[in-house]
Amino acid sequence: MKVLITGGCGFIGSHTCEYYIKKGDQVISFDNMTKYELTRTGYAADSARDYNWNFLKKLGVNLLKEDIRDYDKLKEAAKGCDFIIHTAAQPAMTISEEDPDLDFSTNVLGTFNVLKVARDYKIPVVSCATIHIYGNEINKELEEGETRYLREPIEIDEKYPVMEGILTPLHVSKRAAELYVQTFIDTYNLEAASFRLTGLYGPNQFGGEDHGWVANFAIRAILGEPINIYGAGKQVRDILYAKDAVRAFDAFYKNRKSGIYNIGGASKTSISLIECVEIIKEIIGKDVQVNFCPDRFGDLRYFVCDISKAKEKLNWEPTVLPKEGINNLIDWVKENINLFKKD
Ligand SMILES: NC(=O)c1ccc[n+]([C@@H]2O[C@H](COP(=O)([O-])OP(=O)(O)OC[C@H]3O[C@@H](n4cnc5c(N)ncnc54)[C@H](O)[C@@H]3O)[C@@H](O)[C@H]2O)c1
Repeated sequence: MKVLITGGCGFIGSHTCEYYIKKGDQVISFDNMTKYELTRTGYAADSARDYNWNFLKKLGVNLLKEDIRDYDKLKEAAKGCDFIIHTAAQPAMTISEEDPDLDFSTNVLGTFNVLKVARDYKIPVVSCATIHIYGNEINKELEEGETRYLREPIEIDEKYPVMEGILTPLHVSKRAAELYVQTFIDTYNLEAASFRLTGLYGPNQFGGEDHGWVANFAIRAILGEPINIYGAGKQVRDILYAKDAVRAFDAFYKNRKSGIYNIGGASKTSISLIECVEIIKEIIGKDVQVNFCPDRFGDLRYFVCDISKAKEKLNWEPTVLPKEGINNLIDWVKENINLFKKD
């Protein structure tokens, strides 16, 4: 089949392109190759930006440097496609506060364009949302354990109220995009899903302080640089390994049960920031300096997905546990360490 992946040269997009091309499908990556976030990381931004492009080029992916806000270009690229996986986004809360126009145009207009194209050509589509859609009122329900915040019940399902608490532009743009997904399902019978993704991690991730915290921690630890943790470090996520997220996209294609899904590792992958630092220390065999900084605006201190709906309707569940996944991420960072040293 022919698959269109928006944001194909990003972290999760590159894994998705790799999966489908290796399966023997035709794959198009539609990515504007923005450096907005990478230039803030202090890494070798130009080489880092080219990494996934070069990796996918060698695999035979059709690479288009285009913007999802350009409806005509998107429509041209989607012609004849069987599946769209929409990963292109402005994904960082910090950047959304600083540049709400970029956040709005990318996440709302961009997703709207993807949905219109999918409707016009009747192509099934998965759109990436985020667990931030739940807002941060959950912070008020937590107890403080020794290394993590605790909550009962541990897992949270899709019926939990959304957009509660202090909102940033990212909350709104991601929720608006998700509401459009629901609207296109209801109004135009589009086969579509919005995946409320938890913290994702794995190789090919140029994580920085804005986005991609597991990779950010691993990269800094390997470089021997201090890690900044905002808040107590007891924030909890059910981190999800990239390949498991890609399997979830494919599970939607195979099962076509439209709707909104929590896609995370659930209890078995739940981990706090400081617990993650301990795992990294253990794997790399050296100490890591951690600086604790004030909480960040809008931070969600706890989320662990109840994934019963995805298990039942998509027949999907994650397979990779944090130690194994972090180990793979660390191997990849070590192999590519020059990408993380300033240009
Ligand atoms: N990484 C995570 O932990 C995480 C967690 C929850 C949700 N998500 C969501 O998953 C999706 C993918 O995240 P990621 O970590 O792979 O992000 P990423 O930043 O690594 O990749 C996004 C890609 O989209 C591209 N892009 C940005 N604006 C574009 C535009 N206007 N037109 C075309 N391409 C554009 C970028 O160049 C980049 O390559 C996003 O929707 C994000 O919000 C990610």
